[in-house]
Amino acid sequence: MGEFARKYSIGNTDELLKLLNKAYADEWIAYFYYQTGAALLKSLNGKITADQLTEMAEDEEEHRKQLCERIVELGGKPVSEWDEISKQANYPKITYPISETDWQGFLRAVLDAERGAIEVYEKLVEFLRQGNGDPVTFHVIRHILQEEMGHEEEIETLLGI
Ligand SMILES: [Fe+2]
Ligand SMILES: [Fe+2]
Repeated sequence: MGEFARKYSIGNTDELLKLLNKAYADEWIAYFYYQTGAALLKSLNGKITADQLTEMAEDEEEHRKQLCERIVELGGKPVSEWDEISKQANYPKITYPISETDWQGFLRAVLDAERGAIEVYEKLVEFLRQGNGDPVTFHVIRHILQEEMGHEEEIETLLGI
């Protein structure tokens, strides 16, 4: 961490790094399940859903990278063992329907995951507001939160809810 970063970083950095790492693990999980879901889906509506999942997976990968960068900039270490990813994640699993034509079921599973992500980032925003962290981390988290809310809305639109 550089001099300026140290100056602006306040509060409980260990807890912040822990929360950032848990969110980082969630982003890996989301990327994995969204790409897997896109590969499994069948039928015409399934293909439309698959395109949406692929697009969202790319956003999750972007979030993962942003969190990784921030963890390192703050002097932390991103989760570096694959086994630890599912252990650290707030939401380690997305359960898809058995039928690969049940695109609505896939979307509902992803909707739950997105709502979980929104909760995680809202809690992080709250933690940062309570006098922990720094303005750069706040900016990163707020940006990700905004995108997760966008994902939720896109899925709701596809589901017609
Ligand atoms: Fe994300
Ligand atoms: Fe998302």
